[in-house]
Amino acid sequence: MDLEKLLSDRLATAFAAVAGGPVDPLVRRSPRADFQSDAPLALARRLGRPPRDIAAAVLEHAVLDDVCVSAEVSGPGFLNLTIADRTLADLVAGLAADARLGVPLAAAPQTVVVDYSAPNVAKEMHVGHLRSTVIGDAAVRLLDWLGHRVVRVNHLGDWGTPFGMLIAHLADLGEAEAAHELSMGDLDGFYRAARVKFDADEAFRERSRLRVVALQGGDERTLRLWRLLVEQSERYFLTVYDLLDVTLSEDDFRGESAYNDLLPGIVDDLDRLGLLVSSGGADCVFPPGFTGRHGEALPLIVRKSDGGYGYPATDLAALRQRSGELGATRLLYVVGLPQRQHFAMVFAVAQAAGWLCPPVRAEHLGFGSILGADGRMLRSRTGESVKLVGLLEEAVARATDLARSRNPELDAEAAAEIGRAVGIGAVKYADLSTDRRKDYVLDWERMLSLDGNTAPYLQYAYARIRSVFRRAGTEARRDAPIVLAQPAERALTVELLGFGAVVTEVERSLDFHQLAGYLHRLATAFNAFYERCPVLRAPDGLRESRLLLAELTARTLRQGLHLLGIRTLERM
Ligand code: ARG
Repeated sequence: MDLEKLLSDRLATAFAAVAGGPVDPLVRRSPRADFQSDAPLALARRLGRPPRDIAAAVLEHAVLDDVCVSAEVSGPGFLNLTIADRTLADLVAGLAADARLGVPLAAAPQTVVVDYSAPNVAKEMHVGHLRSTVIGDAAVRLLDWLGHRVVRVNHLGDWGTPFGMLIAHLADLGEAEAAHELSMGDLDGFYRAARVKFDADEAFRERSRLRVVALQGGDERTLRLWRLLVEQSERYFLTVYDLLDVTLSEDDFRGESAYNDLLPGIVDDLDRLGLLVSSGGADCVFPPGFTGRHGEALPLIVRKSDGGYGYPATDLAALRQRSGELGATRLLYVVGLPQRQHFAMVFAVAQAAGWLCPPVRAEHLGFGSILGADGRMLRSRTGESVKLVGLLEEAVARATDLARSRNPELDAEAAAEIGRAVGIGAVKYADLSTDRRKDYVLDWERMLSLDGNTAPYLQYAYARIRSVFRRAGTEARRDAPIVLAQPAERALTVELLGFGAVVTEVERSLDFHQLAGYLHRLATAFNAFYERCPVLRAPDGLRESRLLLAELTARTLRQGLHLLGIRTLERM
């Protein structure tokens, strides 16, 4: 059991006695004591009594003697709790024996659908897709480790009117030539060429229009060309996933087109439910509470005036299938914040239609943009959006160079392995360590630095511990008694005991910067410990205890980084 939970449980009983009903004790790590609760303040306001009196009353009711060496009222009415060393040693011994490092499996496993990555066919993945892929994959890893049934869905943009133009261009080029061009990964080049012709050439526009009709009508030859586009793009996306080291596979593609057959049924059912309103020839739903700039009600357009279905209809069909057929109770959408209103409206309509009701919950995990050094949207020198692969290759190249310059003896293979783990890890960590709702600046120097809240800092701490064990020539004894002789080893122990609470919190919030922040605190506590407490030169007893703390730190760092999709290295 983790410490925060233990203290919370004990205090909850006491708070309940004072308040006459349940109160969340809000136990947090604190620099003043080991833990602090500021819940007396809010309760005091509610009961109209002095906060310090409330705090004192809670302490009177709380059974803490066997856990804390001191529990006292401080400041305006906080509770400061200092854990007894014996308790810490006991708990950490339990941790050492636990392959899950104090993180229990979910008591009630759910089926969770994670909709992420979702690039568009015949278009380059951009940095927004990078964020979605990195965040979504972390969600998949974490929820899967907690024992949930996780379904990855790569909601590929593989349908819509631009495909008329793309197929017409493909037909002009000839299949073999087109396949060759696409396999080079120059998706944007292909798209641009089609666009240029479309804008300049009336006859091409007409051919494109006919292709849209043929595609929607299920014309076999047109479908075959469309499939070629989709397959070539998928193959290319898979190479990016491979480089990015994410768990998405070819089985996870479930493009927009997969829902085509369900779309008429969506419109019919919305109509039957009396939710459909015809507006300017389009079929719309006006979910309550959504208004435009001038207070006018905003429509979710499910069928356009030309009879075509668009992005919202597909999302409604997908949602209904996920909560229905797939039996999912948690639906996650990892998509940039500009689509916030779209998802809010889709969820509202689905609720009104009865396709989204408790216990099923849908959550839009929105995220901000990646900015260049100038603080503006990341752009290449020529002003286009930055090609994702280029960015990843640059990360690996920079990390490889750094590894070589730090250690000139490294052979090429080792340098490449380090470069890849550190470069990709740095990109992912930069993303996951900031609140996802915020924009962040892509700053190579900071991301790749061995100091600070970075992947290399954590990877280095891990490699450092592994080198201790190489020198020790043994692994740690899992049943070694823990001795807390120094403040630094005590502080490290308190951090180690916090892993469970963080993972449980992130399971709910999916705010990975909390996990990243925790790992950074843990590595920092380890480094302080390692500076002050000799391990291999410590006397018997203490040596085993310190080796065990080091080993637990390594396991926790490795598991935590693994949940973020970041590799650890035995040497760096
Ligand atoms: N393909 C879309 C884009 O590139 C993202 C799709 C997100 N998922 C969804 N279910 N709408 O913006």
